Amino acid sequence: MGDTVMGGGKKPGEVFLTGKDLCREFGTGKNKTVAVNKVNFAFRRGEIISIVGESGSGKTTLAKMVLGLLSPTAGEIIFEGKKRDISSQSKRRLYWQNIQAIFQDPFSTYNIFNKVDEVLMDCIRLQNGRLQGGGALSKKEKFERMKDACRFVNLKFEELSNKYPFELSGGQMQRLMIARIFMLKPKLLIADEPTSMIDACSRATILDMLLKLRDEVDMTIVFITHDIGLAYYISDTVYIMEHGVIVEQGTADEAILHPKSDYTKRLLGDVPKIYEPWDFTKAG
Ligand SMILES: Nc1ncnc2c1ncn2[C@@H]1O[C@H](COP(=O)(O)OP(=O)(O)O)[C@@H](O)[C@H]1O
Ligand SMILES: [Mg+2]
Repeated sequence: MGDTVMGGGKKPGEVFLTGKDLCREFGTGKNKTVAVNKVNFAFRRGEIISIVGESGSGKTTLAKMVLGLLSPTAGEIIFEGKKRDISSQSKRRLYWQNIQAIFQDPFSTYNIFNKVDEVLMDCIRLQNGRLQGGGALSKKEKFERMKDACRFVNLKFEELSNKYPFELSGGQMQRLMIARIFMLKPKLLIADEPTSMIDACSRATILDMLLKLRDEVDMTIVFITHDIGLAYYISDTVYIMEHGVIVEQGTADEAILHPKSDYTKRLLGDVPKIYEPWDFTKAG
C-alpha cells in the first residue's frame, strides 16, 4: 500500500546507510536515560522512511546520531559501504553534503539576521564548492537557481528575497527550508516533525513538497512523526519506536496494517477511523 498511495513513485534502490546496534545514553547513575537502545536500520535510495513514536521515544536522538550531531555511545553507522568517519571538520562537511535535515522549528535552525536571498545564496556557495572546476556562475545564473528553488516550493522569490526569517510565516519558513534542500540535493533528508508547528493547511502543502522532492530529485527521506496515520500515508518503510527501541519495522503495509507489537496496535487504536478505508486487505 505504501507504494501505491504514493502514486507510482520510483522503486527504492540499494541500501546506502545502515545503523548497527546504535545506542545513546544521557547522564549517569540513577540519572541515566537510555534514549536509543540497540537500534538497527537500513535506508535505501529514493525511499521514504517514517520513524514513528510518542514524545520521548528517542526519535530526535536517533536523527541527531544519523546526522552526526550527537555521537553514539555504542554501535556504528555505515555510509556507502564504509564505517562513517566524521572525525575532522572537513570530513563532517563532506558528510553533510550528503545528509541534511529540516527540523520542527524552522526558525531555530537559521540565523535570523540572514535575509531570504542570503539563505539561498549560501546554498549556491555550498553547491559550488562541490562542483570541482565547474567554474563560477554568473549573477544571472545564481538568481535563476534561487528563483527556480522558490518556484519548486511555490514561493515568489521577488516578494521574499529582501525579507528576514521573522517576517515569514511558519509555513513559508518551512517551505524556504525545503527550497534549500532542493538546491543542495543531499542523498538523505531527515525531516524531524517538520509539520508539527504549522497550521493544517500548510501541513498538507509541506507533505506534498516532500513527496515531490523524492520523486523529482530521487532523495531518500526519513520522516519523523508521532502520527502513525500520516506515516502510513507517505512511507514505503516504517519503523516504530518505543522507549528507545524499534518495536516494529517493515513496509507501511506490514507494520501498520498487520502490526505484530502491542505498542503499534495501541498507537493505531488512537488513530481516527479515517485511516481504515485504506485497508482493502482486511475485508472478508
Ligand atoms: N541532551 C539530552 N540530555 C539528557 N537527556 C536527553 C537529551 N536529549 C534527549 N534526552 C532524553 O532522551 C529521551 C529521548 O528524547 P528524544 O530523542 O528527544 O525523543 P523524541 O524526539 O522521540 O521526543 C527522552 O527521555 C529525553 O528526555
Ligand atoms: Mg523529537
